[in-house]
Amino acid sequence: MEYSLETKCIHGEAHRHRDALCAISYPIYQTASFSHLTPGHNLSGFDYTRESNPTRSYLEETITSIEAGAVDSLAFATGMAAINVCFEHFRAGDHIICTDDLYGGVVRLIARICRKNGLVIDYVDTADLQALRQAVRENTKAIYLETPSNPMMHISDIRACAEIAHGNGALLIVDNTFLTPYLQNPLALGADIVVHSGTKYLNGHNDTACGFLCTRDAGLAEEYRLLAKTTGGTLSPFDAWLVMRGIKTLPLRMERHVQNARIVADWLLEQPFVSKVYYAGLPAHPGYEVNAAQARGAGAMISFAVEDSETALRILRQVKLITFAESLGGAETLLTYPVIQTHADVPKEQRERLGISDRLLRLSVGLEDPGDIIRDLEQAAVF
Ligand SMILES: Cc1ncc(COP(=O)(O)O)c(C=O)c1O
Repeated sequence: MEYSLETKCIHGEAHRHRDALCAISYPIYQTASFSHLTPGHNLSGFDYTRESNPTRSYLEETITSIEAGAVDSLAFATGMAAINVCFEHFRAGDHIICTDDLYGGVVRLIARICRKNGLVIDYVDTADLQALRQAVRENTKAIYLETPSNPMMHISDIRACAEIAHGNGALLIVDNTFLTPYLQNPLALGADIVVHSGTKYLNGHNDTACGFLCTRDAGLAEEYRLLAKTTGGTLSPFDAWLVMRGIKTLPLRMERHVQNARIVADWLLEQPFVSKVYYAGLPAHPGYEVNAAQARGAGAMISFAVEDSETALRILRQVKLITFAESLGGAETLLTYPVIQTHADVPKEQRERLGISDRLLRLSVGLEDPGDIIRDLEQAAVF
């Protein structure tokens, strides 16, 4: 019987994984290694936790079952460890097109590691399909994008990008961190690989780091497993268990996150100290229609520009309920200053072109009463 996403988030693959003592919660196999009976014969099928561990495998199967279209998934210690393996797949001389608005850590990975390894990477606004088509070269091996993107919330048409990639024999890689499998399924829309920072909504409690690669190609998954085992950034059993616990409430949390975000975005639009609101759930947002056609919601990430940098700094200093911190996707509302935090390593010229200025704030709307979030922003904005 095929269960719905809500049910799979709670039960995972439990029907196949009852342990010997019938525990409701899947056990944490907190072990580095597994015994062998005789050479070449181990009972469990597990050898060494860097390579595989039952608690991690259980989480990976749960993610595969909720990320529609996936045939396999791998869990990593962080989102960046997952993204690194994703890029390790390519060879020197391969051309990769990345969307121009990306989490700053990925921009740093590209600048410091991928280019050193000989990858040829161009940044293109993948929301502009004409520009994307023109950027494709004979040796283009992948298109890499976030939608909504971090922090400017650009929306790319996943189906159209997949068509362009596949027309050239290239892969489409989509970072689905902001929407999660509950709101968007890039693989079902034609993408080949989905990346998640599970640190965010999938775990959902701001208490552990994690990352995933999901793919609809079993051969690619096998290669990723070899790369993950070799580079060593796989997820610990305890963190896998925490993320599994978080996923049980993913649908409920996402519903409430989206409701709260819409209330806060509508309020921000009316504020004299706010000059621009970037939220994919606002009808005036460029890409609103594309997002509505390919996703079941706009998520709960909002960026907004205020009138000047003094106002931005005042808000960051004066928030009381909201926490001034990096990261996103947890129960607690977090406010980030991308220019000195998440996107500090993005070259200044690229930041300025995108609008990542000292007037831009990024809000991860949490699960508190939205009235309390608004009142906190209101008091923080006044002199
Ligand atoms: C969209 C996105 N992708 C990937 C990452 C990297 O994930 P992690 O911090 O878990 O390494 C982040 C981190 O903020 C992110 O926002």
